[in-house]
Amino acid sequence: MTKRIISVFLMAMFFMSMLAVPAHAMNVEGKQQEVANVAHRGASGHAPENTMAAFDKAFEMKADYIEIDVQMTSDGELIAIHDTTVNRTTNGSGFVGDFTLEEIQQLDAGSWFGQEFAGEQIPTFEEIVDAYRGKIGILIELKSPELYPGMEEKVADALIERNMHRPSNHKIIIQSFNHESVQTSKELLPNVPHGVLAGLTWANVTDEQLAQFATYADYFNPNMNIVTDGLVERVHDIGMEIFPYTVRTQEQADNLFELGVDGIITDFPEFVYEHPVKN
Ligand code: G3P
Ligand code: CA
Repeated sequence: MTKRIISVFLMAMFFMSMLAVPAHAMNVEGKQQEVANVAHRGASGHAPENTMAAFDKAFEMKADYIEIDVQMTSDGELIAIHDTTVNRTTNGSGFVGDFTLEEIQQLDAGSWFGQEFAGEQIPTFEEIVDAYRGKIGILIELKSPELYPGMEEKVADALIERNMHRPSNHKIIIQSFNHESVQTSKELLPNVPHGVLAGLTWANVTDEQLAQFATYADYFNPNMNIVTDGLVERVHDIGMEIFPYTVRTQEQADNLFELGVDGIITDFPEFVYEHPVKN
């Protein structure tokens, strides 16, 4: 009888410990799994994207990485903004590449999101790196690099100046939809992990294409809508990791978690709860 009570007690403890682990932290077999929590353009569900307010929010929410979109001004300064025009996310209009740094920093990059963010500026790449290095990982997207010749070198120089290009640095990743640009960057920064971004047109990516990516990239980061368990397995088999984008609901996060991804790029870091950092 005592044995039965003890075994019932142990069973109850076991189920209670299972309940203590948030659902997103369990894969289909019920095992704990680490998934990197990547705040897309900062915690952009809560603050204006690609601003210090959004990056601060991501840090406060204990994300593992901030994702930033890097472009270049007409006077060759690296800045963070997603669109190739300033129209959607500032009170100005025109192409990013037509503004000097001084001009673009006069724009209000916060009011469109909410009056409490009025006066937020478009930050420089160097400002972001200096503020967050050693505090949170930085997933750097080279955005439309074909418009900005020499951008890869400028990013590399900024990282090298700060000694952030060493093999021990697991918290900087560089990625782009422009795969030539990823290769150029990898040649400049051979010890920094790189990723290829893959939109919907890569739904039928072949093993040969993945093998080619793996010659210079460590991550294959696709649109979440093309992710299957088969794709995750093939990416892992070739030795890469997979961080799909862009999660905006808990259900999407949970689905990706079950498919065994390594990271989740999301506007809402709360959908990927706290967990050990994946390196
Ligand atoms: O990091 C992946 C994701 O940012 C790519 O899409 O358009 O939001 O830059 P986009
Ligand atoms: Ca991006």
